[in-house]
Amino acid sequence: PIMLSQTKFTHRDNLNYPFEERALQFGDGVYEVVRIYNGTYYLINEHIDRLFRSAEAVKIKLPFTKEELSNLLNNLLLKNSVSNDAKLYLQVSRGSAPRNHIFPNNIEANVYGYIEDQARNVAGLQDGVKTITERDIRWEYCFVKSLNLLPNVLAKQTANEQGAYDAILHKDGIVTECSSANVYMIKDGTVYTYPTTKRILHGCVRMRIEKFVQDLTIPLNEDGFSVEDIALADEMFLTSSTSEVLPIVTVDDTQIGNGQPGPITRKLQNAYEEDAN
Ligand code: PDD
Repeated sequence: PIMLSQTKFTHRDNLNYPFEERALQFGDGVYEVVRIYNGTYYLINEHIDRLFRSAEAVKIKLPFTKEELSNLLNNLLLKNSVSNDAKLYLQVSRGSAPRNHIFPNNIEANVYGYIEDQARNVAGLQDGVKTITERDIRWEYCFVKSLNLLPNVLAKQTANEQGAYDAILHKDGIVTECSSANVYMIKDGTVYTYPTTKRILHGCVRMRIEKFVQDLTIPLNEDGFSVEDIALADEMFLTSSTSEVLPIVTVDDTQIGNGQPGPITRKLQNAYEEDAN
């Protein structure tokens, strides 16, 4: 496999990553995960835009323009002859230097990216998944796709230990998002989700959901919903680049609707399917 390393290409075995690296010592970096269908990136410009927003928010200087990055990523696909369903992982850290909280002078960002196979979650997409609720203990800049993922890792691990797919996070009783996805509730035909404030990641798939509901004339309420509201939900689903539009059929011990993915979720899954292919 060929990796992107800085703005060059190298075989995976040749990548040597320094130990005095701010991603490793401080989680001082940002990242993206981009879905690839049949060898083509899905929503690549949205992901590139978000990477630039994340980097700007934490004052990391990116060593390329958006156009240069787009070309590098297309070359990465070609060099790996990707033709199947896969994903790109792209990480940019502030750089390497002896450990010091203060930004070192003249530091250059460290970039790497690689492509990995990613099969679609056929069973989950068909039948829906179980989730749990967890307190959202993350920082206030969740719109930054930061490498500081410890609260997300802990929440997802707790879910996993309880046989659930993901954790639905809540702050002061209000549902924000999942540990690695955006989350939605449907009640009486309206889709509810958390607003795109600094408290959640502005998902690229979430952006498409905004368009799909408009096309399908399904009302969207972006004032969010509470943990209590879940008991009365007709349908629920989550979205991300790897999970797509994934129905949620259980939250803690509560069954959602009749325990099967609902009709609006199915419509949005179909809209996604058409958009992505
Ligand atoms: N996660 N919220 C969080 C906290 C996320 O980590 C993600 C994506 C999303 C959905 O964003 P998008 O629709 O752009 O994929 C929402 C990726 C897939 C990950 O960390 O693996």
